[in-house]
Amino acid sequence: MIQRSFHIMTFGCQMNANDSDWLKRALNARGFTEAATAEEASVFILNTCSVREKPEQKVYSLLGRIQNMTKGRDDVLVAVGGCVAQQVGRGFFNRFKQVRLVFGTDGLASAPQALDRLVEEEQLRMSLLDFSDEYPEKEQEWTGDTVPSAGFVNIMQGCDNYCAYCIVPYTRGRQKSRSSVSVLEECTRLVERGMRDITLLGQNVNSFGQDSHGDGTSFAGLLHQVADIPGLERLRFVTSHPKDIADEVIEAFGTRANICPRLHLPMQSGSDRILKMMGRKYDTARYRSIVDKLRAARPDLQLTTDIIVGFPGETEEDFLQTLHLAQEIGFAQSFSFNYSDRPGTRAEMLPDKVDKAVMQERLMRYQDWQAEYTEQILHGMVGSTQAILFEGMSKRSDSDAPGTTWQGRDVYGQLVHVSLPEDNDMAGKLLPVRITEAKKHSLIGEKAGEPW
Ligand code: SAH
Ligand code: SF4
Ligand code: F3S
Repeated sequence: MIQRSFHIMTFGCQMNANDSDWLKRALNARGFTEAATAEEASVFILNTCSVREKPEQKVYSLLGRIQNMTKGRDDVLVAVGGCVAQQVGRGFFNRFKQVRLVFGTDGLASAPQALDRLVEEEQLRMSLLDFSDEYPEKEQEWTGDTVPSAGFVNIMQGCDNYCAYCIVPYTRGRQKSRSSVSVLEECTRLVERGMRDITLLGQNVNSFGQDSHGDGTSFAGLLHQVADIPGLERLRFVTSHPKDIADEVIEAFGTRANICPRLHLPMQSGSDRILKMMGRKYDTARYRSIVDKLRAARPDLQLTTDIIVGFPGETEEDFLQTLHLAQEIGFAQSFSFNYSDRPGTRAEMLPDKVDKAVMQERLMRYQDWQAEYTEQILHGMVGSTQAILFEGMSKRSDSDAPGTTWQGRDVYGQLVHVSLPEDNDMAGKLLPVRITEAKKHSLIGEKAGEPW
């Protein structure tokens, strides 16, 4: 008999992470519990990503591993969701006997009910792969009394951009904006329950409202409405496509105190020739001018980006343009990847694929620069005082300071560890902290004021 004990494995972007968090809460509300270890679980859920080649192969090998791990057991149910599920669909049923549910992006909302049924009806298999016409509103998100100090709110589904290399429009479907009223309601409810830091989430938040599902509210309008919620200390949003960022959004960085001075603005390449082939619809001059306007509005703004190295036809010269523009702008962090052919995309058909070794060498050069620069930025923060919003107790164990070490984030989203002598519960509190030391990926600080 299938037990109501589950284990979720999540791959891919923040949207998948957010979907998995929702699914956990929805399953808990239906009497399922999260297993302490994978071995103890009866229901396995894989929330998958297909943006690059490797994560897709990971799904197949993971399904194989689950099969081996649970050999001889008849109480195992596997569900595959997310972007690979949307693509492969019922194909999983043929390859893996244990897989009895596949669900895509829009199927997620009904996955908890489906799992409820599948646990009882052991011969059944179900697929939830259709794209719905409307933004699929989900059942009540939070049932408990407490919420974390920081969290995400989804504002749209899908993407209409069809960048030449990208599979997302195929796996997540057309862009569907959520109603601004629902977004505002959810944010207000979360802040009332204690959330102080919200990140609005979508593949291209800047084009919020600009689809047939929009209710007349633009992203700038939504941003101001959410920023107005009393008690919301920090507001962020991700991801921004440079072609769609409106001047009103740029200006908001200067006029709204609770919009955090950090923006993820995927550049992808610093070569106009490559950007054109990618179908990104901006050139480097436009990208630079957006950056200039942003920094004029908010001088302490930190920028982060996504970079693809080795797009078909990329020459050493194109790559150097990318590296040099990144250095000129000074990204605080980059998510950089080797180009990976995705089935059915325009880039897949392009000639002049870049040799894997060449691509890897370029990626290493880029990442070496970025690692060094990120460290430099973190070192530059030593001596400054930052407001830290605490998430909970620190997972670092190398501190021998007395008392408890807490971890939280500064306004840029950087991880900061602080040892505090008293035993007060700091989760959800803001505290002025003087930064005393920079590690490779995080900061250490000491109390420099009273919490609020
Ligand atoms: N909507 C976001 C990106 C979502 S995908 C945006 O447009 O900015 C996240 C990142 O994965 C992309 O920014 C891109 O850098 C990378 N990516 C997407 N497809 C890829 C591919 N085929 N090969 C390598 N990297 C890819
Ligand atoms: Fe992919 Fe481009 Fe859409 Fe981003 S904007 S998800 S890179 S198609
Ligand atoms: Fe991956 Fe799908 Fe996100 S392909 S990056 S999980 S939208």
